[in-house]
Amino acid sequence: MSKKIAVIPGDGIGPEVIAEGAPVLEQLGFELTHFGWGANKWLSEGIGLPPDALKNLSDFDAIYFGALGDPRIPDMAHGREILLGLRTGLDLYANMRPIQLLNNKLTCLKNKTCDDINFIIFRENTQDIYGGHGSASNKNTPQETTIDESRHTYAGVARIITQAFECAQKSVTLGHKSNAIKFGGALWQRVFNEIAPKYPKIKAKQLYIDTMAMEFVRAPEQFEIVVTSNLFGDILTDLGAGITGGLGLAASANIHPGRIGLFEPVHGSAPDIAGQNKANPMAAFLSAAMLLDFLKLFEPAKKLREAVKQAIERNICTPDLGGQKTTQEVGSFIRAQL
Ligand SMILES: NC(=O)c1ccc[n+]([C@@H]2O[C@H](COP(=O)([O-])OP(=O)(O)OC[C@H]3O[C@@H](n4cnc5c(N)ncnc54)[C@H](O)[C@@H]3O)[C@@H](O)[C@H]2O)c1
Repeated sequence: MSKKIAVIPGDGIGPEVIAEGAPVLEQLGFELTHFGWGANKWLSEGIGLPPDALKNLSDFDAIYFGALGDPRIPDMAHGREILLGLRTGLDLYANMRPIQLLNNKLTCLKNKTCDDINFIIFRENTQDIYGGHGSASNKNTPQETTIDESRHTYAGVARIITQAFECAQKSVTLGHKSNAIKFGGALWQRVFNEIAPKYPKIKAKQLYIDTMAMEFVRAPEQFEIVVTSNLFGDILTDLGAGITGGLGLAASANIHPGRIGLFEPVHGSAPDIAGQNKANPMAAFLSAAMLLDFLKLFEPAKKLREAVKQAIERNICTPDLGGQKTTQEVGSFIRAQL
């Protein structure tokens, strides 16, 4: 392993939280190279993802990513080009988002504990409605009609479902909408039914996506691994964050087994709190822990998670978790635990 990490801090609170997590990787001997892709570059040079970006990134072991989004670019054109460009360009088809309660006091669910809320969502990351294909006719008239194409391929669905079963020990639950989404919904259900029997020791379950949303809140203990499409996963993972303490704690990994992985907090650039030293850096630390797991550095990853738990336990937290500490104070405390 060359021990090289590409760091893309991005916009808003992205650079603030990445500045806290990145030193942990440096202390472990990684060489970090920063890439200033984001709103400022887009506005000043018209460049989102530079043409040689994907080739250059092939030299790295992993990518550590902050967040994109800037009120000066309301249509998020740069964000789509950079983040979706990386996810699809590097074919990072598995977006893994742990829904793990780190402290009982953090959940809004009555009578649920850390033992009850501990599962992972596998969100398909390269297909679905995010491809930008479609049309708008009669624009800016009362007759305006829009079409956004939601594209799913057999191979794309099969590989994320297989990845979910490969990582499961007890159960995989498919979230789908085959009762209303005629073609794509049927494909997801059929492929799941084909793959599940290859893993006889893993319980295979299916829920309509609306029911699944309710079950996240009613009985989250029933889930170990959830697999679903890109759009549904996008929404459900924020619900997952909501029952485990909020976006300031939600981490994610974008992977393609055997290739480079991209690790990022689930949250966006949070313009409402950017520049105020208020952003919770814990999701960035927990994303760094996922990066370390990916590189098989299990012990440092475990210690990093423990350090985050310590900070929560001792209320060394930013205002989103009811604390009064700054981003930098929380970051310093977590690093000091290591
Ligand atoms: N992966 C990404 O880069 C990504 C993801 C989501 C949204 N976005 C973009 O980010 C911008 C803002 O979007 P949004 O407001 O819908 O979502 P957001 O995640 O940025 O913020 C939602 C709410 O959660 C709070 N929040 C988020 N992260 C936090 C943290 N670490 N600590 C404390 N509070 C935190 C924010 O203050 C805000 O009130 C938009 O441009 C959007 O397109 C980017």
